[in-house]
Amino acid sequence: MAPSAQPLPTSVSDEKYANVKWEELGFGFVRTDNMYVAKCNYGESFQEGKIVPFADLQISPCAAVLNYGQGLYEGLKAYRTEDGRVILFRPDQNGLRLQSGADRLCMPYPSVDQFVSAIKQVVLANKKWIPPPGKGALYLRPILFGSGPILGSLPVPEFNFTVFACPVGRYHKDNSGLNLKIEDKARRAFSSGTGGVKSITNYCPVWITMIEAKKQGFSDVLFLDAETGKNVEELFAANVFMVKGNVVSTPVLTGTILAGVTRKCVIELASDFGYKVEERVVPVEDFIDAEEVFCTGTAAIVTSIASVTYKDKKTGFKNGEGTLASKLFETLVNIQTGRVEDKKGWTVEI
Ligand code: COI
Repeated sequence: MAPSAQPLPTSVSDEKYANVKWEELGFGFVRTDNMYVAKCNYGESFQEGKIVPFADLQISPCAAVLNYGQGLYEGLKAYRTEDGRVILFRPDQNGLRLQSGADRLCMPYPSVDQFVSAIKQVVLANKKWIPPPGKGALYLRPILFGSGPILGSLPVPEFNFTVFACPVGRYHKDNSGLNLKIEDKARRAFSSGTGGVKSITNYCPVWITMIEAKKQGFSDVLFLDAETGKNVEELFAANVFMVKGNVVSTPVLTGTILAGVTRKCVIELASDFGYKVEERVVPVEDFIDAEEVFCTGTAAIVTSIASVTYKDKKTGFKNGEGTLASKLFETLVNIQTGRVEDKKGWTVEI
């Protein structure tokens, strides 16, 4: 049975917290109260959707997403501030990225205003799930997919834009720095493929590589480019940076690397701190020769990399206090959580 609409809370005050052990919050699915759903037929535009109780979605077994992988997702966070406000971090950037991904995967998409409005509605409709200040964030997961049945020929008749939310803590448990495997066989993304967009098809194909690396004791995998196998690209779900002297480098976006929102912020912040920031091809030997390396992402925020292992050779890096990663982490989280004034205009109060 289709879920029915329910009234939307209009204020974030006088709320109670959900029954969650906030201290133990990890990065896993937690069922919250409400979600947003909008649908759109082929040839039409997305209209305003509605908030409904969180429930399973009903779609045809022949849906485009289930049979042909026509789907995208986004990830962004809402934080509760110490003075009782609720703020989002750069939701417009996710809305824009969703649009470019939808173009690539032949789907209609919500306007940025509709996208941001949906996000705000989901936060307000799940306000008791926003962790207390300092205990994590409410992670918003917008998904856009072909929900209509398609067997052989286009067009896909129906599309679905849904947003749900889960309270989350840290994504990587290794606060003392990640131990990465640089993967020298499996590849994540190919030139003119979908590596540069947040297609759902980018993730599962490399789970096998992640699972194998985790069995070997690594925290995550760093992938190399598919064409030459010589240049670093990104982790399973995070962008990567290296620091050498006063220069910060990150792999240039060539279509195979996701244009991370946190990546964009870090480029700006590192440059504010006086570093020369280069977006360039980063050969693996150059990367291994860095003083400090770290990764960035909505889930990962800014996480230090303590070591990388490439072809069985392990290299360690500067890590912990006094690193650029720790300064970037603190600066970013202070802005995201409203602990300092946001001079960048990155936060949006709900
Ligand atoms: C995010 O950082 O939002 C991601 O999409 C990564 C995901 C694996 C949690």
